[in-house]
Amino acid sequence: MNITIVSGSHRKVSQSIKIAKAIKSALKPLKECDEANLFDLADNPLPLWHEDIRNNGKKSKSLLESISKKLAYSDAFIIISPEWHGMVPAGLKNFFLMWGKGELAHKPALIVTVSSGDGGSYPVSELRMSSYKNNRICYLPEHLIIRNVESVFNDNEIDNNSSSQEYFENRLDYCLKQLLTYSKAFKQIRESDTVSIKKYGSGM
Ligand SMILES: Cc1cc2nc3c(=O)[nH]c(=O)nc-3n(C[C@H](O)[C@H](O)[C@H](O)COP(=O)(O)O)c2cc1C
Repeated sequence: MNITIVSGSHRKVSQSIKIAKAIKSALKPLKECDEANLFDLADNPLPLWHEDIRNNGKKSKSLLESISKKLAYSDAFIIISPEWHGMVPAGLKNFFLMWGKGELAHKPALIVTVSSGDGGSYPVSELRMSSYKNNRICYLPEHLIIRNVESVFNDNEIDNNSSSQEYFENRLDYCLKQLLTYSKAFKQIRESDTVSIKKYGSGM
């Protein structure tokens, strides 16, 4: 399976990218995972959605086409979102506007949210409510909320709260194995003749 991890923070130095890298390492030993790639939204590399994108115009074509190909090649996604003002960062919401060719469609995705405090549940709700309708990404019922994110998954073990670290490592492993199982099962759905973004380009 080929997994793409999307780090949804626009910050150059972010907790989201720290978690994304930890997840990439955790995927490595899992035999069902052939490849894991990181797509980092640091510095907001995507243009804000504009009409030219829908019309397949020249402006952002080369950048978007190369990302589109990588996403289309992926079997599953891990969407990492920090909580900013109780919301998903605007750049991550913008990301979901871009993929109208079925790049994410009928592929399972694990939501991982991060907060430096006790937050993290608002972005879970927001992603589940509004991020999937037209691109048809399919979120697992399981998700991870990494609260007090600064106290876990640090390179230097002494910076980690050992009981939280152990808890999140185990829970992450549980979620990743589940994601890989879903990925295998979802291939059947995409290969069936019951899904067509050509017939209904937009969800209701
Ligand atoms: C603009 C901004 C708004 C924030 N708002 C919240 C918030 O509403 N709730 C929360 O739990 N943490 C909030 N935080 C703190 C973040 O949880 C913390 O900075 C975390 O590291 C952000 O993830 P990032 O480093 O991946 O960007 C906010 C941080 C920023 C930069």
